[in-house]
Amino acid sequence: MTKLGVNIDHIATLREARKINEPDPIYGAVLAELGGADGITVHLRSDRRHIQDRDIRLLSQTVKTKLNIEMAATKEMFKIACEVKPYSVTLVPERKDEVTTEGGLDVILHSSTIKPLIQDYHSHDILVSIFVDPDNDQIKACSKLGVDIIEINTGKYADEENEQRQMVELEKIKNASRIASKTGLRVAAGHGLNYRNVIPVAEIPAIEELNIGHSIIGMAVFSGLENAVREMKTLIKNL
Ligand code: PXP
Repeated sequence: MTKLGVNIDHIATLREARKINEPDPIYGAVLAELGGADGITVHLRSDRRHIQDRDIRLLSQTVKTKLNIEMAATKEMFKIACEVKPYSVTLVPERKDEVTTEGGLDVILHSSTIKPLIQDYHSHDILVSIFVDPDNDQIKACSKLGVDIIEINTGKYADEENEQRQMVELEKIKNASRIASKTGLRVAAGHGLNYRNVIPVAEIPAIEELNIGHSIIGMAVFSGLENAVREMKTLIKNL
C-alpha cells in the first residue's frame, strides 16, 4: 500500500500572510494524521517564508507518525535538525526567488558537500532523503553516497499538459524508481501531484510513499468552507 506524507507548509503560508498565530500548522498536522496521513512533511526554508523554527520544534513533540523536514544542505539547517531530531530530512535545492522547489538536487555536482553531511546526519540517527529528478545517473550517485531514501521529483510529469509527453515523464519515474529500489534505496515521490494525476504514480510498485501538499490543502479549503461559513452564521444570527 502506498503511504501518504502530507506537506502542511501552506497552512503556515496562510498564517504568515497575517503574521499572527493562526491557522496553526501544528493543528493541521493533528488533523492530517487523524485523516490517515502516514507522515508529516514541512519545508524549513532559509528565508522562513512559511514554516518557522517554533513549528518544527512543536511538530517534533506532537507528530505521532513520522516527521520529515525538507531543508537545504547547509550547516545552519543541519544544526537545527540535530536539535529537533526528525525521523528524516529531505535535502532539497533552494533558490531565493523560487515560488516552490524547482527541481531535484544535483547530487553529482554537490557530492563533496553532501557525502559528509549524510554521515553527520547518520551519526545523529536521522535518515537522509534526497529530492532528485528521475535521472539514472543521479539515482546511482545517491546510492553511492549512502542516501537512505530518494524522493523522485514528479514535477515535470505533473506540469506536462501533452498526454504523450506526460507518459514519457511517467516512464522516467518508473525507470528511476526501479533502478533505485534495485540498489537498495527506499523510494518516495512527490511534487505537483493532485487528485487527477496521482494514480499512475501511486501504481508504481517501487514507490513506497508520496509527498503531497498543495492539492490536499487546496481541497481542504473547499471541503471545509461551507461548514466554516455555517458556523460563523450560527454564531451571529440570533444576536
Ligand atoms: N516534495 C518536495 C521536495 C517539495 O519541495 C514539495 C513542495 O513543498 C512537495 C514534495 C509537495 O509538492 P506539492 O505541494 O506540489 O504537493
